[in-house]
Amino acid sequence: MTLTRRRFGALLAASAALPALPRLARAATDPIMIEARPGPAQLLPPPYPATPVWGYDGTAPGAGIRMMQGTRLERRLLNALPEPTSIHWHGVRLPNGMDGVAGVTQAPVAPGDSFDYAFDLPDAGTYWYHAHRSSAAQVGRGLHAPLIVEEREGLRPDVDDEIVAMLGDWRLNRDGTQVLDFDAPHDASHGGRHGNVVTTNGQVEASHPVRRGDRLRLRLINASNARIFELALQGMNGWVVALDGMPLPTPRPLETLVLAPAQRADVIADVTAEAGEEALLIRHEREPVVQMAFPVRAGTAAVRLAPAPLPPNPVPALGALADARPLRLVMEGGAMGRMDGARVGGQRAGFREMADAGFYWAFNGRADWTAADAMAPLAELAAGETVRLAIENRSNWPHSMHLHGMHFHEIGASGTLGDLRDTTLVAGGATVEIAFAAAAAGDWMLHCHMLSHAASGMMAFLRVAA
Ligand code: C2O
Ligand code: CU
Repeated sequence: MTLTRRRFGALLAASAALPALPRLARAATDPIMIEARPGPAQLLPPPYPATPVWGYDGTAPGAGIRMMQGTRLERRLLNALPEPTSIHWHGVRLPNGMDGVAGVTQAPVAPGDSFDYAFDLPDAGTYWYHAHRSSAAQVGRGLHAPLIVEEREGLRPDVDDEIVAMLGDWRLNRDGTQVLDFDAPHDASHGGRHGNVVTTNGQVEASHPVRRGDRLRLRLINASNARIFELALQGMNGWVVALDGMPLPTPRPLETLVLAPAQRADVIADVTAEAGEEALLIRHEREPVVQMAFPVRAGTAAVRLAPAPLPPNPVPALGALADARPLRLVMEGGAMGRMDGARVGGQRAGFREMADAGFYWAFNGRADWTAADAMAPLAELAAGETVRLAIENRSNWPHSMHLHGMHFHEIGASGTLGDLRDTTLVAGGATVEIAFAAAAAGDWMLHCHMLSHAASGMMAFLRVAA
């Protein structure tokens, strides 16, 4: 197997000037703050210049938040960006008003304003938070960070080290600046916006030292705009123990792991490489590429048993599938999709007209479910109701479909309940059926997490009655 380390082309002289924005004043009694603001990120290895980004506390990805299950998260978002923003807590079960969808669950937070988020954390697991206003541009500029909710004391897996790996994808110019074409029609109508620089925790060549025989917990988070990662381990023996924060009932040996945009995986991995070698997290492209390196020092080499499952989270139980309410979501559009048109602005528009208005996709024949003046839920659900939703992808492109506020089971071919997830990858031409219990009251987004798809027609919501 050939392994490539991606090097970025030739150096350019000029370093990019960072926009200077006023810092907001803060008092000693204020709650813990997250300031969304511009800042520099050294995405490319020095001596390449730093990249001007938008980040939480000015870094991209943000340093993130680590909490314990059952505690309350309280943060004040201060907006020091030149445009409105909000924070969505991806995968967390919380009251709808804390879900952070600007224009739907809260007013956008204007520049200079703040918003207080406060909610309990019922579930342990690997989550993340990101901007939810102009998401393609704002998440793409760097407004994303890990949210780690630890299992309670005594219930944590026995590991020697834990590594959070947030995978990012950036489109950079040779001077390190970002290409700011977040709404490029070609990306939006094809597979979404792919970058030219892939990072782990904001670094092209991320590395973390380990010892031979160490048992690691890897928390993998795909924060990219549209890149689907196909990951594998080398010099490590791994098991997937959780997906999208939710523990698997039985750990699953890791061969390759597909991580679509917004998905997470918790992996327990034993280092088997020799001291002096590197264990690797690799991603498959045309050839395998190093995503993250783990230089190995001497240690033990005890062979360990497969890890025990993580303790299950207290998610609400599903009712009987036979009695579930059937719903269908038909996704159409995109390049080579043969969609004639869809409803936009209350009228039927041909594909060409839709494209002129910036829409390339439709859900159930409509492209603007969240239009400010014509917001309408895809369906209205009763609280506690069990829903069975078939997501049919009539386009030629894969879509990473995310439901806010509730995890769902993917339903297996034989009608069995599969993994509990908050984001599922639906291949072109495929149908994925999911089942969930409508939980808290409110409007819960259902959208593609390829963010330029979401911005161009693949964004809707389900309303759960109070
Ligand atoms: Cu992480 Cu509406 O998304
Ligand atoms: Cu999509």
